[in-house]
Amino acid sequence: MSGKDKIEWAIQWMPVLNSIKRDFAENKPFKGMKISMALHLEAKTAALVLALKEGGANVRIAGCNPLSTDDEVAESLKNDYGVEVFAKRGLNTNEYYEYLNKVLDQQPDLIIDDGGDLTTLAHNHADRSENIIGGNEETTTGVVRLKNMEKAGALKFPMFDVNDAMMKHLFDNRYGTGQSTVDGVINSTNLVLAGKKIVVAGYGWCGRGIATRMRGMGAIVSVTEIDPIKAIEAHMDGFDVHPMRKAIKNADLVITATGMKDVVTLDDLKNAKDGIILANAGHFNNEIAMNQIEGTSIGREVRRNVKVHELFGKKVYVLADGRLVNLAAGQGHPVEIMDLSFAIQALTAEYIVKMRPKERRVFPVPSEIDKKVAEIYLKSYDINIDHLTEEQIRYLNSWDEGT
Ligand SMILES: NC(=O)c1ccc[n+]([C@@H]2O[C@H](COP(=O)([O-])OP(=O)(O)OC[C@H]3O[C@@H](n4cnc5c(N)ncnc54)[C@H](O)[C@@H]3O)[C@@H](O)[C@H]2O)c1
Repeated sequence: MSGKDKIEWAIQWMPVLNSIKRDFAENKPFKGMKISMALHLEAKTAALVLALKEGGANVRIAGCNPLSTDDEVAESLKNDYGVEVFAKRGLNTNEYYEYLNKVLDQQPDLIIDDGGDLTTLAHNHADRSENIIGGNEETTTGVVRLKNMEKAGALKFPMFDVNDAMMKHLFDNRYGTGQSTVDGVINSTNLVLAGKKIVVAGYGWCGRGIATRMRGMGAIVSVTEIDPIKAIEAHMDGFDVHPMRKAIKNADLVITATGMKDVVTLDDLKNAKDGIILANAGHFNNEIAMNQIEGTSIGREVRRNVKVHELFGKKVYVLADGRLVNLAAGQGHPVEIMDLSFAIQALTAEYIVKMRPKERRVFPVPSEIDKKVAEIYLKSYDINIDHLTEEQIRYLNSWDEGT
């Protein structure tokens, strides 16, 4: 399948974004504007880029992770659609930042980021960021970084927290990461999940999606947490909850999804079984302490996206060098899920251009945008729901009416 075919396939299954794109084509909200993006560059992302372009923007895009770019899609976006693309799979750190710098070189009016690297770069290069009126951040880890910048008084332009929009994290982080992590693990290992003992680190939006989907495949799943409430949630959802040190002893496969560093360390691996497999679905490749592992044993590739490290006389397999397994070794989130996330991205970008917020803070996505995306989705799939009657609305707003 060519890059163009991949993009067209994705677009076909993205009715919400397509509806927004038609509106953009008519109203040109980004006419004459420059948008710089750093996102996982694959077919669904191309659909967002093309919607923004249709709205009049000049778009430059880089990848937001050295291993998540689909080269065929990147080439097609450049050659078939005339987008300025700076992305390639398998970049080293210098090349990765060189490309991020290139998208910033156009002195953008808006930025769309995933993970916070582009935003941080923009803050370190005032000469190329003075036109920025605002931007969006896609993921949990990026939002954590933004909120730290806001607290430190370092934020130089308003940023919108797309991750916390309901129509994003409820579906993208949970069902999207859940399904595509299964995909990434199966793709790289070709092993059966039924009967495997799997430890999921973190029971946030991504972790609960992964744990549930893995259980659905017949795996025996346990969970590690640091938050007592999330731990109880996991417990009541029927998962065993243990600290990593204990959980890792029986594990065939450990999957991290915490947004935290050093969740699986060399010390933890002392307790692991020979042949344990490690995978990460969190944003950065530091959840599994890859610096410790690689500092002790250089990995040898045994399959595409699988390296073996000899540690403590045991074989420890790491998928996708500890980078997002669902993107580096799988196909990323299902198309219909990214339709929702990118619909939020597109409408939030339009909102920034229309409203021009001035405060240098992290804004939530307005609830009207969540609602609009939900309504377009329901309409697209011909799903009808009930609506409150006048009497029910009156009841809802009353206080003197009992049963
Ligand atoms: N792979 C993907 O496609 C994808 C999609 C969305 C988000 N993400 C990334 O996944 C990560 C998690 O996102 P989320 O939305 O689930 O976040 P979240 O905040 O909802 O959940 C993270 C959970 O991890 C727990 N945690 C933190 N440190 C821990 C530790 N040391 N051990 C065990 N648990 C720990 C937290 O208590 C929390 O419950 C982030 O880095 C996010 O950016 C990845």
